[in-house]
Amino acid sequence: MNFLKKITRRSFIKKGIIAIVSLELIYLFVNLLRKSGDAQTPANLFEAGDIDLFEKGKVYPYSSELFYLSCLKDGGFLAISTKCTHLGCTVNFQKKEDKFLCPCHASAFNKHGEVLAPPATRALDLYPITISKNKIWVDTSKPQRRNKYDQSQITYA
Ligand code: FES
Repeated sequence: MNFLKKITRRSFIKKGIIAIVSLELIYLFVNLLRKSGDAQTPANLFEAGDIDLFEKGKVYPYSSELFYLSCLKDGGFLAISTKCTHLGCTVNFQKKEDKFLCPCHASAFNKHGEVLAPPATRALDLYPITISKNKIWVDTSKPQRRNKYDQSQITYA
C-alpha cells in the first residue's frame, strides 16, 4: 500500500513537472510566433493605400500622419515629413508652384524635399516606406533626418 502511494506521488510529481514544462514551452512558442508576425506583417505601419491609386508626379497629403506621399515621375515614392527643418512649422504643398512652402519664414522645398529657398538649410525629413502586397506602408514612428536628397532614398515597387 505504501509502495502504491509512492508510485502515485512520483507519478503525480512527474506529471506536474511535465505540465509546467509544457506550459512554458507553449508560452515561449506563442511569444515567438507573435514576434515573428510583427516583423513580417506591417501591423505597426500606416497604410497609405494601394500603389495603383497614386499618379506619377503628384503629391498626396496625410495630414493626420504628418507626412506627404510624393509619387515621383519615375514611379518611385518618398514619404516626406510636414515639419519644416528650419523651426518646425508645418509646410504646405502648393500645387500651382509644385513645391512645399513654409508659412512661417518662407522656406521652400521641391517634391524630393530638397531646399529651394532658405532659411531652412537641410531637406525635409523622410519616413521609411515599405511596399508589400501592392500597398504602400509608411513607418511614421521613425522620421529620418537627412541633410540632402539622394536617389537612394526613393522606394520603388
Ligand atoms: S519654420 Fe519654416 S522657414 Fe522657418
